[in-house]
Amino acid sequence: MSISTSPPAPVVMTGAGSTELSRSEPPIIVFEKVTKIYANGQAAIRDASFTVRPRDFVFVVGASGAGKSTVIRLLIREERATQGHVLVEGQDLARLKHRHLPRLRRKMGIVFQDFKLLPNLTVEQNVAFAIQVTDPGRPHLKEKVGEALYIVGLEDKLSAFPTELSGGEQQRVAIARALVHRPRIFLADEPTGNLDPDAGWGIVQLLQQINHRGATVVMATHNREVVDLCRRRVLAIEDGRIVRDEAEGAYLRDGDAIL
Ligand SMILES: Nc1ncnc2c1ncn2[C@@H]1O[C@H](COP(=O)(O)OP(=O)(O)O)[C@@H](O)[C@H]1O
Ligand SMILES: [Mg+2]
Repeated sequence: MSISTSPPAPVVMTGAGSTELSRSEPPIIVFEKVTKIYANGQAAIRDASFTVRPRDFVFVVGASGAGKSTVIRLLIREERATQGHVLVEGQDLARLKHRHLPRLRRKMGIVFQDFKLLPNLTVEQNVAFAIQVTDPGRPHLKEKVGEALYIVGLEDKLSAFPTELSGGEQQRVAIARALVHRPRIFLADEPTGNLDPDAGWGIVQLLQQINHRGATVVMATHNREVVDLCRRRVLAIEDGRIVRDEAEGAYLRDGDAIL
């Protein structure tokens, strides 16, 4: 184990994570017998069904090519299910009109393995950019940007440029940018993929804090260390099929061979 479990930057906790209440609420995400076949005939998801409750934290795990990113792309309607239904807050994404896509995506914060920051903008400008594009007249923009950067522990880096930051800090900027919309659902596709173990662990702790503040978090990853340290819900995918859905799970099923 190479991760040192140092404490994260302090943030204000306002929520309580998965609670009794969330079990009585309708699911925020539903996959109902979803199959996704790409245009070239490649089946990426096969007959997958699962639900995610509000304020749940889910790791989607599996080998490269298993279908993890496809789950994320279906959730943001970058791809449509070939069969079955994907619902977000009760809305069937197949029926969502193109003009309503921005509204769907504003409900969601998304981060990727590569941070996708704009190199010529400062940290503050990168975070503000997302709002300026979608909602230019929004009041208190500067305060909202400052708050998002405070949550990720970068309030003292407002005028730095991305190249002046470490990889972990760049990913925190990407997370702050995703947080300014105050998303109810936070999606992360291999967010630790480009980071060393300590920086990656910091990002996962931050996602757990975002979850404690009330957001539902879905993180696609093949980072076995962090999954095993967190012991959160694990959805395991193999060749497009959900092969395991376990509360407080590990990366591998107990007794599985180490890959
Ligand atoms: N745009 C695409 N067109 C065709 N096949 C794709 C496309 N995206 C992914 N695939 C294929 O779908 C399968 C699942 O891919 P993906 O969801 O990216 O897996 P993972 O994120 O787990 O590595 C793989 O076989 C991959 O090659
Ligand atoms: Mg992927």
